[in-house]
Amino acid sequence: MKPMCGIVGYIGQKQAQNILLEGLRKLEYRGYDSAGIAVYNDGKLNVKKTKGPLSALQQLTDKDPLSGEMGIGHTRWATHGKPSDENSHPHMDEKQQFSIVHNGIIENYLDIKEELQEKGYTFASETDTEVIAHLLSELYDGDLVSTVQKAVKRMEGAYALAIANVMEPDKLVAVRLASPLIVGVGDGENFIASDIPAILEHTRDVYVLNDGEMAVLTQDRVELFTTDGTPVNRDMLHVTWDAATAEKDGYEHFMLKEIHEQPKAIRDTLAARLKEGVVDLSREISLTPEELKRFDKVHIVACGTAYHAGLIGKSVIESLVRIPVEVDIASEYRYRNPILTPSTLVIVISQSGETADTLAALREAKQAGARVLGITNVVGSSVAREADEVLMTWAGPEIAVASTKAYTSQLIAIYLLGLYLARVLGTQPEEQLLEVTEALPRLSEQVKSILEDHGSIRKFAEKIAQHENLFFIGRGLDYPVVLEGSLKLKEISYIHSEAYAAGELKHGTLALIEEGIPVIALATQQAVHDKMVSNIIEVKARGAHVLGLGLEGRTDLDRSVDEHITIPETLSLLTPVLSVIPLQLLAYYTSTARGINVDKPRNLAKSVTVE
Ligand code: G6P
Repeated sequence: MKPMCGIVGYIGQKQAQNILLEGLRKLEYRGYDSAGIAVYNDGKLNVKKTKGPLSALQQLTDKDPLSGEMGIGHTRWATHGKPSDENSHPHMDEKQQFSIVHNGIIENYLDIKEELQEKGYTFASETDTEVIAHLLSELYDGDLVSTVQKAVKRMEGAYALAIANVMEPDKLVAVRLASPLIVGVGDGENFIASDIPAILEHTRDVYVLNDGEMAVLTQDRVELFTTDGTPVNRDMLHVTWDAATAEKDGYEHFMLKEIHEQPKAIRDTLAARLKEGVVDLSREISLTPEELKRFDKVHIVACGTAYHAGLIGKSVIESLVRIPVEVDIASEYRYRNPILTPSTLVIVISQSGETADTLAALREAKQAGARVLGITNVVGSSVAREADEVLMTWAGPEIAVASTKAYTSQLIAIYLLGLYLARVLGTQPEEQLLEVTEALPRLSEQVKSILEDHGSIRKFAEKIAQHENLFFIGRGLDYPVVLEGSLKLKEISYIHSEAYAAGELKHGTLALIEEGIPVIALATQQAVHDKMVSNIIEVKARGAHVLGLGLEGRTDLDRSVDEHITIPETLSLLTPVLSVIPLQLLAYYTSTARGINVDKPRNLAKSVTVE
């Protein structure tokens, strides 16, 4: 798992505080659960940091500004340790001599921490980052550069670090391994940043650090080395992008960026939970096998896109764990007087962890004595704090209102949960579980291959952009996927669409099928394939223009449809992770073809905290 978070550093002749805060504002899309800065002045590194968005930090600095011309700053997206004042960066050693900000994870931090504790060091936070500050203090030999070189030899994992100390206040050090970091070169001032947008206002000349490299910055110089001390000659990069494009890694919109982040989000959500064909969630879920055995039903409760993930969750849990599952829209659940007992497991799914309807359902379920498991993307969110058990999705911050990477990560979390419960409860033969656990890690590459080749989806999107009505149809697990595809399209293209279980069309909706109406038909489920083809023929006979989405290697579908696209083959149970990708792209390209504000569609909000 590679967390997000943003880093900025400044050394020059101007007041550092405002440059750091402005830089962090440009990086808020990288994380926004806490923020902090440290600024050097008169022999001291003064720190202001707080839980909450950057505006909370700004309030602190407005009241009591930090003066000084050198400093570092951070905006956090929590992984190790909840969002809190103590866990916010910068972190310092006990003597308050070193101040650091960090992106990434120090995997062996507990070993280093124990060793330092034995030497008498005490720690103020739960983070892996804090150990680096103490380690630097322990290893300090009078030279920041060689001390950092010694320290990184001890550190395993991923890091981008900006480091300041009070003994050598004319210097800042940046060092990177497997987490992005750049150095901006100005006139009489130099910068460190995790991403280019943080510093674009001040300079367009940057050095991009590679893994195992460090930079030493003074006001007037930047020197690059490898972490074993060999000088590095690097050409400077002159950035020609505008700041807005840079924030989106060069993508035109956050939604497109987030769609492309899905292979990584899937990998990160699987990482550390799936090893050698076995899913182990025992470190995250405290329920014992005996307690798990006592559950006789599951309720899944969520809103919007997360609700669609829940519908797939029903099939996954019922087929793997053989426990009955009901899925509810959170705003309905509360008022339908659900039957809740201590043997009900209630799963709430929420990207933000703050959706009011979902939270109300969570509280209601807890009060009725049920056990609640939350699936959420935000560490320290209300769902993460209030649920009895938490299963994180590691998708990173999602900025676009229309959810994409959080959704596919929710599906992955559900598969993991289903597989874990099935193993602990012994509800499926080992071989069958192995088949699924072997197919799961392949999804990431398969999603990538769909993303690499989507020219025909784009062309189809341009066609449907002219329409005001269309239909999505599917059967079995394709049905919840078309519900999600239709929601995505409605949210960001403002085109009316309906998603139907294909077999249900003939009970009324078929009356709406007329010449030329687009129908998007998913046919990825082997067990109902022939039935699905018959439903496609029904709509075609009434003049529909059909885009068929099927599996690679099934040639019969393209004979029955007008346009045909395929996704790679995987187990039927796992296809929803792949089949939703073309539908996300379809919504995206239809929205751009209609000139709509993709990331912020009208009337909608990313996090709905009112009922
Ligand atoms: C809002 C968003 C949707 C999201 C839903 C649930 O309506 O616009 O994209 O699916 O809330 O959000 P949650 O954070 O609970 O997953």
